[in-house]
This record gives sequence, structure tokens and C-alpha cells, in this order.
Amino acid sequence: MAESMKGLKRTHRCTELKVTDVGKEVVVMGWVQRRRDLGKLIFVTLRDRSGIIQVVFNSETDPELHAKALQVRSEFVLAVKGTLERRSEKDINPNMETGELEIIASELRILNKSEIPPFHIEENTDANEVLRLKHRYLDLRRPHLQRNLILRHRIAKLARDYYDENGFLEIETPVLTKSTPEGARDYLVPSRIHPGKFYALPQSPQIFKQLLMVSGFDRYMQIVKCFRDEDLRADRQPEFTQIDLEMSFVDIEDVLAINEGFISRLFRELKGIDIPVPLKRLTYAEAMERFGSDKPDTRFGLELVNISDIVAASGFKVFKDAVENGGSVRAINARGAGSKFSRKEIDALGETAKTYKAKGLAWMAVEEDGLRSPIAKFLTEDEISRIKERLDAQPGDLLLFVADKDEIVFDALGHLRLELGEKLGLIDHKRFDVLWVTEFPLLEYDEEEQRWVAKHHMFTAPMDEDIEYLDTDPGRVRSKAYDMVINGYEVGGGSIRIHSQDLQAKMFKVIGLSDEQAKDRFGFMLEAFRYGTPPHGGMAFGLDRLTMLLAGTNNIRDVIAFPKVQTAACLMSNAPDTVEEKQLDELHIKTVIEESEK
Ligand code: AMO
Ligand code: AMP
Repeated sequence: MAESMKGLKRTHRCTELKVTDVGKEVVVMGWVQRRRDLGKLIFVTLRDRSGIIQVVFNSETDPELHAKALQVRSEFVLAVKGTLERRSEKDINPNMETGELEIIASELRILNKSEIPPFHIEENTDANEVLRLKHRYLDLRRPHLQRNLILRHRIAKLARDYYDENGFLEIETPVLTKSTPEGARDYLVPSRIHPGKFYALPQSPQIFKQLLMVSGFDRYMQIVKCFRDEDLRADRQPEFTQIDLEMSFVDIEDVLAINEGFISRLFRELKGIDIPVPLKRLTYAEAMERFGSDKPDTRFGLELVNISDIVAASGFKVFKDAVENGGSVRAINARGAGSKFSRKEIDALGETAKTYKAKGLAWMAVEEDGLRSPIAKFLTEDEISRIKERLDAQPGDLLLFVADKDEIVFDALGHLRLELGEKLGLIDHKRFDVLWVTEFPLLEYDEEEQRWVAKHHMFTAPMDEDIEYLDTDPGRVRSKAYDMVINGYEVGGGSIRIHSQDLQAKMFKVIGLSDEQAKDRFGFMLEAFRYGTPPHGGMAFGLDRLTMLLAGTNNIRDVIAFPKVQTAACLMSNAPDTVEEKQLDELHIKTVIEESEK
């Protein structure tokens, strides 16, 4: 018994109604949040994407309408005509945007009914996430998710406007393409017309945007879907969106300046927050030394301190051996935690350290008249007093130590630092710390593959002053790569690219890519680069991560309309799914999975 809208036209969204509209005849349309019956009065809160407003049906003035309103249930779709009125003083709801107003209904149409939804749709739901993802279209009715997606739209719009005003052209690049060099696994699409051949979905438009520079477009941007078949985390999705850009005739400073302009405008216009530019910068080396991370959360201290020199010849074998083997011993001073944390809590920190491959976590709780510590007995008075001095240890402090290869020390202490920052309440959650991390190593050694691999990607240029070490000491070469980091999240990254063929050939050699392989994978790009390639560089922001930060959530699913879960599946559509035998035949594909395993 769905009724027609005929003759009614919506005049306002629910919260577009203001006190200045009182007395007007208005028409609103939306979903029923709630119906409350108070004898002769029925109150219905109506919801649309703007928010909610209260509608009143009165049996004394209109018994027929009142009777009709009694049929209304949660999530029914209504059109309501009525007069906007001011609520009496005692009925004002200060927690509601339209809390001073209500519509006295004169006409009601039930545009559609709804079954009882599988969970109650409200701002703060405690319904199970699996259930909500299965019915994502209902979960998306919640104001929280509506606000997030509206915010996401605004960020994308502002990006298009900003880069357009700065001379960037939005140009689309292909989705059915060849494998790209970002280093995750590719999603492959089989070709029907070319038996045995596959397209790869782009991990980023990297190669194409560089080719657009060869073509002379000079400044390119695109808001673009990227696909990476990698292990998912709270801030990662298999398909995600980049605000991707590339510029010609630029060096690092030009790229950083343009993108600082974007980020500061974003925060000013969408959050009313002033982010001072130029942004702070940390080199990769400094970020690791001080925070144990290349995406440091700089909203709080608890910085790492190197004590290797003090314990290099120590009687504590764990410390001495680490330094002897080329590693280090580093510490953080968890201020006040010595007198706050129980033994059990300290042991739990040790377990955290172990999940990052540390062999243990040594500690000292500093007291008024000495130390509580399982390792004090292995150290001399002098070593202890120098350690305390370097860490500025006061009574009540807890000193935590990890000894190992640098890589493990940084990772373990870096993560402990984050956990302690949260636990000790040191993080100001209203604050946004935006910075660049620069001078990333060009290469890192892949133990599994026993070769050097590009840390950013293989088109990233080395720093001029380090090129000479490419052959002799590749690990020492720093690159012209940079990341933008906000509150411990990598929100974007990029680099100045190699535009000389000789240097590119050398880079391929260092990472063990033969001429043959390079030609096979990027032949078209290498050929293009022979015809006059301008110096160029760029970066890409993760739109999902930027939105997460601005929306104040730490779950990437909260800012994506139809997200995937940890297993890369969509619980609503049930993708990925099996297909008909006929489709596989057309694609020249046979799977080796048994029917029973599907
Ligand atoms: P990069 O691989 O650093 O660089 O990616 C750029 C930004 O994209 C976001 N991001 C992701 N967001 C959600 N889920 C994922 N799985 C995911 N992976 C990456 C991050 C990251 O900073 N072509 C280069 C850019 C360039 O050099 O210009 C690139 O893709 O916020
Ligand atoms: P052990 O002598 O192995 O019993 O270790 C003494 C203390 O040192 C314990 O509290 C361990 O957790 C800690 N420890 C062991 N290995 C390391 C390491 N690599 N770094 C820091 N602390 C460690």
C-alpha cells in the first residue's frame, strides 16, 4: 500500500528547517527513526541525510491522520506536510539540532513500508559489525557514516578545486593494465581474447602518470582507485583511493610546497584548524632514532635514547652482545610508570615487545632509594648512574630497554612507545601533527630474496650526493622520497623520479632486474624515456586515510561506502564468488580447487 508522492514536493531536508522558518508550511521526506505514542499525541522523528526532525500528530485536531500515523513503524518511508512550529520551552531538546522545532502534521503519506530491520539504526549502535556489513545499506543510514561519506566527498571536491587552481589536469589512466611496480601482489583479470594472458589491476597509476609527463601535460592529478592484494589491517583495504599527482620541471621543494598548500587548506576549510606551513620535517634517520618509526606520532614525547656506548663492555651479556654484533641497546623512559604499573603490566609490555621480534624487554623501576629491576645485578653502579642520567630518570619512572639489531630495536620500542603513549594518557586526541619524513633509504635488503629492493619504487631518484655509493654501498644511498605523516599515519608518499636512462639502467642492475626482465615489464616506459623526458616528481595521498583522520576514526571501513573485511571479502555482495563453468571456459581457465573446497 505504498502511496504516491504525487502533488507533494519536498521543501527542505530535515535540519535545513530553522527557527526563522517557523509558521511556514513545509514538506519533508525521509525514514522513521522512532514513533512514540502519548495518548492523543503521536511523535515521529523523521530522518534524512541531514539529520532528524520531530513530527506531531494530534488526535484532537485530526483524528483520521492520527489513526494513520499509528500504522507507521521504524524505517518506513514517509512524506509529511505540515506547519513548522516552535516547541514550548519545556519540550526543547538541546541535544538535537532541530530540538527547538517540530512539524505539526496536516498530511501523511506512507511512501513505502519496511520490514523490521536486522538491527536498530541509531548513532551509537552496539550491533555486531558482521551483521551491519551484511546490511551495509542500512548501516549507512546511521548519521555517523553519513557524515563520514559527506566529509569524504568534501575532501575529494576540495582536492579537485585546489589542484585545478594550481594548474593540474585530471586525466584518467587505465584500470585494465600491466603489472605495476609498487611491490604488493597484483589482482589479475584473465583475458578472453588472449588465451593465457592477464591484465593486472593497477597498484597505482605510477607508470602512466610518468608517461603523461613525457607527453608534456606538465601537471596531472587524478582521484583514482588502486588495487593491492596484501594483508589487510585497520588502515588498509585491497581497493583504496589515491589523490594522485605528478609534476614536471620540479625538485623536492616544489612538490612539498604544493602539497603543503593542499593539506593546510584541507584542515582550514574542513576542520577550522590552522596547520602552519612549511611543515615540520624529519629525516628518516632522525625519525627512526627518536621515535623508532618512519611514520612517527609526534604528539607526545617518550623518545628513544641510545645507550649502546654505556653498555658496550657491560657484564650484561644480552646488552654487550647486541652492540658487539653491530646492533644497539636503546631505551625509553616511561615517566611515572614505575610507580603506576604492576609487575603484571610490565610483563605485558614485554609480551608486546616480543610480538615485534624482541627477545625480551629489560626494565628498571626507579625508586627514591634505588632500583627495582631484574637486570640491575648485571650492571655496575657507574653504568646504572650513567643510564639514569642519560634518560633523565626520576623516582617513579620506568626505564625500558631493548637490545638487538637496530631494525628490531626500533620496531619494538617504536610500538611500545605508542602503547605507552595511549596507556599513560599522553596523547592529545584533538591535536593534528602534520610533518614530512624525508631522505628515505633508496633500497632495503630483502633477506628472503637475497637482493636489494627499492624501498619506495624503482623509479625513485637517489639523492645526488649519494649516487656514488650505488655500486659500492647500496644500503647507504638515500633517496629523494618523502612521506607525509599525520598523528602516526602515513597519509601520502612520493618522490622525485629518475629521468636519465643511464641512472635507471643502473638502478635496475642494483635491484637485480636483468635488461631482459626490465624490457619485458616496463619496455614501453623505457622506450618512452628515450624521447625527451622532463625532470619530474609527484606523490599520492591515501584518500581513505586522510578521511579517517579528519573524521576522527581509526577504522578505514568507517569512511568507505562498501568496504571489504580482513579476508578481502564483501559480506554484503559475497564477493569474491564462484562463477559459472561456462565463464571459466571462455576465459581459458581451469581451477585446481576441488568442488568441496569452494
Ligand atoms: P604509496 O604506495 O606510498 O605510493 O601509496 C600512497 C598512499 O596511498 C595510501 N595507501 C593505502 N591506503 C589504504 N589501503 C591501502 N592498502 C593502501 N596502500 C597505500 C597511503 C600511502 O601513503 N605511486 C606511489 C606514489 C608516488 O610515488 O607518487 C604510491 O602509490 O596513504
Ligand atoms: P635473561 O638473562 O635472559 O633472563 O634476561 C634478563 C632480562 O633481560 C629479562 O628481563 C629479559 O626480558 C631481558 N632481555 C632478554 N633479552 C633481551 C633483549 N634482547 N633486549 C632487552 N632485554 C632483554
